[in-house]
Amino acid sequence: MKNIRKVTEDIVWIGASDRRLALFENAFPIPRGVSYNSYLINDDKTALMDTTDASVSEQFLENLKAALSGRKLDYLVINHMEPDHCATVGETLLRYPSVEVVGNAKTFQMLEQFFDAELPENRRVVVKEGDQLSLGKHNLTFVMAPMVHWPEAMFSYDATDKALFSADAFGTFGALNGNIFADEVEFERDWLPDARRYYTNIVGKYGNNVQAVLKKAAGIEISLILPLHGPVWRKDLAWLLDKYQKWSTYEAEEKGVAILYSSMYGHTASFADAMAGALAEKGIRNIAVYDVSTTDISVLIAEIFRFNTIVLASVSYNAGIHPKMEALLSDMKALAVQNKKVAVAENGTWAPSAQKCIRAALEGMKNMEIIEPAITIRSSFKENQASDFDALCAAVADAAK
Ligand code: FEO
Repeated sequence: MKNIRKVTEDIVWIGASDRRLALFENAFPIPRGVSYNSYLINDDKTALMDTTDASVSEQFLENLKAALSGRKLDYLVINHMEPDHCATVGETLLRYPSVEVVGNAKTFQMLEQFFDAELPENRRVVVKEGDQLSLGKHNLTFVMAPMVHWPEAMFSYDATDKALFSADAFGTFGALNGNIFADEVEFERDWLPDARRYYTNIVGKYGNNVQAVLKKAAGIEISLILPLHGPVWRKDLAWLLDKYQKWSTYEAEEKGVAILYSSMYGHTASFADAMAGALAEKGIRNIAVYDVSTTDISVLIAEIFRFNTIVLASVSYNAGIHPKMEALLSDMKALAVQNKKVAVAENGTWAPSAQKCIRAALEGMKNMEIIEPAITIRSSFKENQASDFDALCAAVADAAK
């Protein structure tokens, strides 16, 4: 059954949601599902703005047919070639054999890599920065957005509706449940954690590239943002842009402390909870505590981006560090986490080694300020360490304020 929604007089949302996929990119848990958005512009010419993942291709193709309502499909604009959006390109080309494909040089290179089908030259419209395509009333301008999230990614801007087709940017995990507009849902309450988790884990590494494209976007008037995942934005764009400004410059959204611990038998966990309590007594209200072994790493990364102050408490392991904490540190580096104040605590029964490893990992990241003094626990915290503990908690509380 068709499931389409009008966005403006001429733009129709024709995407679909997947609530069965467990892991996005086979890496990130998506218990709330994910949407793959696609849009049709109905003008003198018709233009399809990206396709969808294979998992929802039948629904998408039905939606496309309904939105076209018997009209010919003139253009397929490919803003992003990752298969969660381009998997249905091959089938679309077969069903609409006269459609012209619009993309940049890298788009077509990837198209050839992913698909065997030959696309003749006369059905390729190769665009570069600033090129335009007239559909009649609507005029699309193409804005290159390399590494947001792949090198070929681009945005398409329609000056008539002041609409920015933003590819992965401004997207989020989460299936759309009828309400396709961000202002139709409680976005900050219900969607922001997943939007942050999506951005930080998928595009987090490319803050400089996001900054470059945000600067370009600042020069154009935007009333509508149409991402490839999650709700469409027609209100509160400044709020959303502020989030992207912070995330892409690695500026914390909130003052507060995220305490992340790895613990084998509960002693380091007990230390982490005691620290949370001590910080609460010092007036810190924004505190989150996570066991890195039982919390998905994508959640930990998102929380590290959110808070200005982090505590890493880990057991020692194999003359190094607990593997789950090691994996987190490795992911932090891969995603270019920076500008954090970090307190360190280690636990070791006979040869504590975690602190050295955490310090070395943090030194490999940018602008990571270590809050001193670090603490070494020998198996379990002892009262004769109380003054060191108090000093660390005071320093962490100061850092977080
Ligand atoms: Fe949603 Fe980079 O693909």
